[in-house]
Amino acid sequence: MNNNTILALILAAGQGKRMHSGSSKVLQPIGGKAMIEHLIQTVNQMDKTTKAIVYGHNGAQLQQAINAKFRDIQWVEQAEQLGTGHAVSMALSKIAQTEITLILLGDAPLVQLETMQKLCLKAQQTGFALLTATVANPYGYGRIIRNEAGVVTAIVEEKDATDSQRQIQEINTGMMAVSSKILQTYLPKLNNDNAQGEYYLTDLIAMLNADGNIVTAVQISNADEAMGINDRVQLAQAESVYRQRQTKALLAQGATLIDPTRIDIHGELSVGQDVIIEANVVIKGKVRLGNRVTIESGCVLIDCAIADDSTIYSHSRIENSTIGQGVQIGPFARIRPKSQLSDNSKIGNFVEVKAAIIGQGSKVNHLSYIGDATIGENSNIGAGTITCNYDGANKHQTLIGSDVFIGSNSALVAPITIGDGATLGAGTVASNNVSNHALAVSRPKLIEKNNWQRPTKKK
Ligand code: UD1
Ligand code: MG
Repeated sequence: MNNNTILALILAAGQGKRMHSGSSKVLQPIGGKAMIEHLIQTVNQMDKTTKAIVYGHNGAQLQQAINAKFRDIQWVEQAEQLGTGHAVSMALSKIAQTEITLILLGDAPLVQLETMQKLCLKAQQTGFALLTATVANPYGYGRIIRNEAGVVTAIVEEKDATDSQRQIQEINTGMMAVSSKILQTYLPKLNNDNAQGEYYLTDLIAMLNADGNIVTAVQISNADEAMGINDRVQLAQAESVYRQRQTKALLAQGATLIDPTRIDIHGELSVGQDVIIEANVVIKGKVRLGNRVTIESGCVLIDCAIADDSTIYSHSRIENSTIGQGVQIGPFARIRPKSQLSDNSKIGNFVEVKAAIIGQGSKVNHLSYIGDATIGENSNIGAGTITCNYDGANKHQTLIGSDVFIGSNSALVAPITIGDGATLGAGTVASNNVSNHALAVSRPKLIEKNNWQRPTKKK
């Protein structure tokens, strides 16, 4: 028995009918990450806190998704979804082992760490702390009923509220921290005598009040944190709140965002000084941008690092790669995983690079495929050059030295080595190694016939 801990209990058994989805509501993404993951990550920053999730509808899918990312989750089954009060009751044996239970809703993931901490602290002092918010449009939320003295006496759900109660703008966020003893006493007393025939967790407040116990309301100043996400409209609104939080932090770090409403940061982005990011850029995974990096519009950057003074021109995609200083990429370039572009190299339009090292100052400017290759320094790869890395069964390496000139429309049949300083004439199909400083040309000689008469149609 450990009386000194907090149990963070996340309710996530509901079906989420209003989402009209085949998957669990709490797995719907915000910023590319399941909403419940946001909650878990916030809870992970709390001291002395264990985590349990109440699951039910689509439970197997939920458990699989969450267990793949977090190892320390306890699971509590709610086979039938009879309401939020019933959901918490399912965890009574776990609740009995902690001092405070912090109840969180899987569909309210935008709550911040400080708010959770504040709630728990208040509950330690008073036994029951309820998080409320005042919102412009309270539709759908439980309303907070206060007496003349301002004391919270009950919560009335939208469907059970009278017209005048529906005018109340102070709402129940659904989140509360409660002494586990109180939960053990009162949860068994809940009934389902209401419009939805559910065991409402929110009925605890009136019951406590009737017994002369005071429920402390902690009012949240930023109502965005309270957002409950029940349908796709609210999901889109939450996405926009999340985006605002991300972009605010980026702007504070000194980045220039041409339009902060048109960027998607579905991962972690760190920026140096004087970074410029144009519209409709998508960031996934861990992305690091050095000083004075410019990302033009429509780029997708996934798990990559781009060093100082590099420019990524519009509509390029870079994945799992390292980009040096002063590099230029795009427009319309694709840098696939395991690529390394050294300082001052250049990848131009309609070029695909895969698992390749491009040496310092080397250029692949137009319409090429460079895969499973290493290019030395200051080499120029002409337009339309293809590394033929695949023989239908296996992949082979192309090694190109430094100061090499590959003429346009050449095909390099791997495995192959092109020596330092070598030159390939345009249209060469190189199937053998080329020595250092050699000229290699494989194209047939041009034949010229003077005064050539084109065939004409028979009349
Ligand atoms: C709930 C609150 C409401 C509050 C709102 C805040 C109740 C009765 N109502 O309403 O006062 O303003 O949240 O967003 O508490 N769940 C279960 N098992 C169940 C039912 C629900 O685990 O049997 C889970 C759901 O998966 C969801 C959460 O509890 O994550 C909230 O349920 P939901 O149906 O969305 O409640 P609301 O109608 O939003
Ligand atoms: Mg809800």
